[in-house]
Amino acid sequence: MRMGHRIIDWLDERLPLSEFIRRHITEYPTPRNLNYLWNFGSVAGTFFIIQVITGIWLTMYYKPTGSLAFDSVEYIMREVNYGWLIRYLHAIGPTFIFLAIYIHIGRGIYYGSYKQPRELLWWIGLFIFLSFMAEAFMGYLLPWGQMSYWGATVITNLFSAIPLVGTGLTVWIRGDFTVGEPTLTRFFALHTTLIPLGIIGVLIALHLSALHRVGSNNPLGVDLDKESPLMIPFAPYYITKDLWFISLFLTIFLYFVFFAPDFFLEPVNSEPADPLRTPVHIVPEWYFLPFYAILRSIPSKLGGVVAMGMAIVVLAFLPYLDRSRARSATLRPVKRTLTWILFVDFILLGYVGMYPPDEIAFAGIRMVDLGRVLTGIYFLYFLSMPFVSGIEPVRDVRLEEL
Ligand code: HEM
Repeated sequence: MRMGHRIIDWLDERLPLSEFIRRHITEYPTPRNLNYLWNFGSVAGTFFIIQVITGIWLTMYYKPTGSLAFDSVEYIMREVNYGWLIRYLHAIGPTFIFLAIYIHIGRGIYYGSYKQPRELLWWIGLFIFLSFMAEAFMGYLLPWGQMSYWGATVITNLFSAIPLVGTGLTVWIRGDFTVGEPTLTRFFALHTTLIPLGIIGVLIALHLSALHRVGSNNPLGVDLDKESPLMIPFAPYYITKDLWFISLFLTIFLYFVFFAPDFFLEPVNSEPADPLRTPVHIVPEWYFLPFYAILRSIPSKLGGVVAMGMAIVVLAFLPYLDRSRARSATLRPVKRTLTWILFVDFILLGYVGMYPPDEIAFAGIRMVDLGRVLTGIYFLYFLSMPFVSGIEPVRDVRLEEL
């Protein structure tokens, strides 16, 4: 025991270790009324760590060349000790990361966490979201299956919609006139080093640092003083709550990994990439579907790309679009209703994105037309926000709610 103290004292004289633990863990003040939606940041972080660890192990056996990539993944699945486990963890993990991120963003919208003083925290979060999209997209090319190949072809082709420079830019990104080995090797380099470690890792550190500067919002969206009796320390209260919630998610995750690994994996991707044979229906992974539906709902290619980009950019303006004096939808019945409509709308967009555009959704209405209506509703939420938030009633907080 005394030996342990001596080591800590030795370290403390050279590093602000105990001070860091006190400031950010054992004495870090957190509102006592946080609900389970405040656990999703830790869930996302845990799954990110799993991706990094399993990714390093996959890299030990994976071969990023056109002729070997597909077979090296088969080799990992069949020959490498526990290779199947490492690969399934890595291939199914993103589903849980995006699920956690979508709930995390939804929580932020519902409770107004984007509002002052958390704007920067919100924007850093949006950059994390964009970086994860790039990371997942590039990773998906690596197994070099049919959907990997054609998915990458469709998405890189979007850049060709940009006037004047589009075609040149697409060739530059691919490193060739079509998706090929130069695309595979550069995606491999970016997917394994720059994006996860150089961008996402750094952004998550900044995100947490910005969070600890301003403190957590709470379900009522009210400002709480750091010294307030309504604050409790992060450890042991929220650390235990986080740990049990992470365990719950890991249990669900491991259920899929061990008992239903194919549930989230695309069967077409078990065929090797063939540049001469296009799959009948090219669909992205589920977490891109709402944006894919927005892309397809605009008849012009450039218009679709712009709409898809704007669907994310518009989130960055939320701190300024929302003019209400209150943050949380709990106190704002109009925002509450509209936000629930937005959430259902977003899920329906995902549903539309899953089907070919001309498929009939219901009563003779084509998927693409349904997608247009849903895209309209999506943007209307944000465009109406300045007016709605300016006039909607805000109810008072009752003392027993705190
Ligand atoms: C893997 C990605 C991410 C990780 C690991 C992460 C991590 C965290 C953690 C640990 C917290 C504190 C606990 C919590 O409130 O849940 C947090 C809070 C927050 N995050 Fe994230 N985050 C991620 C992505 C995002 C994204 C994409 C956004 C928004 C666009 C975002 C916006 C916020 C905001 C506004 C808060 C403060 C919420 C509040 O106090 O009400 N985060 N994040």
